[in-house]
Amino acid sequence: MAKSPGFASTLPDQLKLSCVLVTGGAGFIGSAVVRHLVRETDVTVVNVDALTYAANPDSLQEALHHRRHHLEHIDICDAAALQAVFQRYRPQAVMHLAAESHVDRSIAGPAAFVRTNVVGTSTLLEVAREHWQSMRGEARQAFRFHHVSTDEVFGSLGPQGAFDESSPYRPNSPYAASKAASDHLVRAWHRTYGLPVVTSNCSNNYGPCQFPEKLIPLVILRALAGESLPVYGDGQQVRDWLYVEDHAHALRTVLTQGQVGATYCIGGRAERTNLEVIQAVCAVLDRLRPDPQGSYARLVRHVADRPGHDQRYAIDPSHIARELGWQPRESFDSGIEKTVRWYLDNPQWVDRVQSGAYRQWLEQNYANRPSPT
Ligand code: NAD
Ligand code: TYD
Repeated sequence: MAKSPGFASTLPDQLKLSCVLVTGGAGFIGSAVVRHLVRETDVTVVNVDALTYAANPDSLQEALHHRRHHLEHIDICDAAALQAVFQRYRPQAVMHLAAESHVDRSIAGPAAFVRTNVVGTSTLLEVAREHWQSMRGEARQAFRFHHVSTDEVFGSLGPQGAFDESSPYRPNSPYAASKAASDHLVRAWHRTYGLPVVTSNCSNNYGPCQFPEKLIPLVILRALAGESLPVYGDGQQVRDWLYVEDHAHALRTVLTQGQVGATYCIGGRAERTNLEVIQAVCAVLDRLRPDPQGSYARLVRHVADRPGHDQRYAIDPSHIARELGWQPRESFDSGIEKTVRWYLDNPQWVDRVQSGAYRQWLEQNYANRPSPT
């Protein structure tokens, strides 16, 4: 795809942006967004990331040292550091992805989720509000704060139906509750202060560069290591899967074309039970990297269920399809094939993320590194 100057030329309704501040841009979805923006547009990307265990600068690939990408090692709970970055770069939009994101970790230790997802979001909102209020004229009109959220805020579905923009909030896990709180803060900053916000709630993502604590990369890597594949409970829980690059494209669309104050549900119409997902991964591995001992599916083991495990998530994406013309490009089958191939082809990324070797590189390159002026 040809690059567009700013976001202006390929789609007529897009905002004209030259600098976007992305939080969490060294994580799984954030790095896909940064790669997308650097490859397919001419915007400058300011990547604000605390570089937690879930971050990996390797995931940024060619964007890492690109002249239009600036990685700022900052915690979103640090208001002074955020203010300095907003003053230095004067971003015209914020895409807020930084979060603690893993449900099992939120059950083991909810405090970090409240800190980053709730306190961090409110800190960022306040700094973004000050910045927006200091803007004038067209720049102020065009400013957007895009909050990236999850369908887990809506709770659990029965066998029928799907979440949409009118679904009530019923979060069940500490992760979901902290994201729900952040969605409410964003809404309140819009209603109370007029901050021009747009929110999206997406279903489960999968694809390259996902930290191997989440189901799909965990199954790929454990299967390759000959380890058991843990299925929580009966494995009949349903998730609605979206390939991460389709999500990145949807986020760009929502940022540039979404209505201020609106929310958009994003999903791939790809519901699968957890057992079906694991079997699909095993089938691709059986074809691409056959194991002489037999199908990888032999490694499946049922283990104790997750407390409060949501039974089913599904998104009705007809609003974003109708209003903004977004559609996913990958089917579940094509996305799983690409994902498995990516993990097979990138053992170095896997080694570095599993051994934590990249953390040493981070210390040397990004700890206390002065920011470019
Ligand atoms: P991730 O855990 O892979 O990455 C999160 C990133 O945020 C990491 O780079 C981490 O270093 C950074 N971060 C964490 N705490 C921070 C802090 N205090 N200050 C600055 N940076 C911090 O998460 P992900 O899967 O890429 O999810 C990104 C966003 O998308 C999250 O807001 C998540 O709630 C949302 N989301 C995720 C999914 C999914 O399936 N993964 C689905 C829907 C929505
Ligand atoms: P996960 O990738 O953690 O995403 P989320 O909890 O946000 O949906 O898990 C996806 C589903 O897979 C969820 O129903 C829990 C289940 N699961 C397992 O059965 N085994 C595992 O080892 C993991 C990590 C998840």
